[in-house]
Amino acid sequence: MTEYTSKRHAFRNKAADYASLAQELNGLLSGEHDLVANAANTAALLFDALPDINWAGFYFVRNGELVVGPFQGKPACVRIPFGKGVCGTAAATRKTIVVQDVHEFPGHIACDAASQSEIVVPLLKGEELLGVLDIDSPSVGRFDEADRLGIERLATLFIASLNV
Ligand code: SME
Repeated sequence: MTEYTSKRHAFRNKAADYASLAQELNGLLSGEHDLVANAANTAALLFDALPDINWAGFYFVRNGELVVGPFQGKPACVRIPFGKGVCGTAAATRKTIVVQDVHEFPGHIACDAASQSEIVVPLLKGEELLGVLDIDSPSVGRFDEADRLGIERLATLFIASLNV
């Protein structure tokens, strides 16, 4: 385990720990619909709870490109065109992308040189693409299928909290 250890969940049983994190997120977002407030608290919860990550946050669709939103981690690239990098590719294809080794992803945008693997989940409210949720890890192969399912579930809770 690296220095990025979880404070509250060991994530040895990922299904159980993501379920408990989902409950926690539900409580955190309950009764609030503001995009910035809920994105900020979601990013903070993920960064605090998930072990072995160095960046967690949002890019939102603004005038046809992605613009960075609330996040935790090092300062990031502000604008990403659709189709560029992992985030822009997830936005363009509207599919979750799990990258085991970012150096093998053509066009990967390195905001933090420490990032080795990454998951990007598109945020769809019905047919409308709101943006993407991006989580980076300093370890190669950090995100598996259980992480994908768990993080997609958290993203769904975030979307459901918005009154847009
Ligand atoms: N690596 C991402 C850029 C965003 S940062 O990692 C925060 C990408 O390739 O889209």
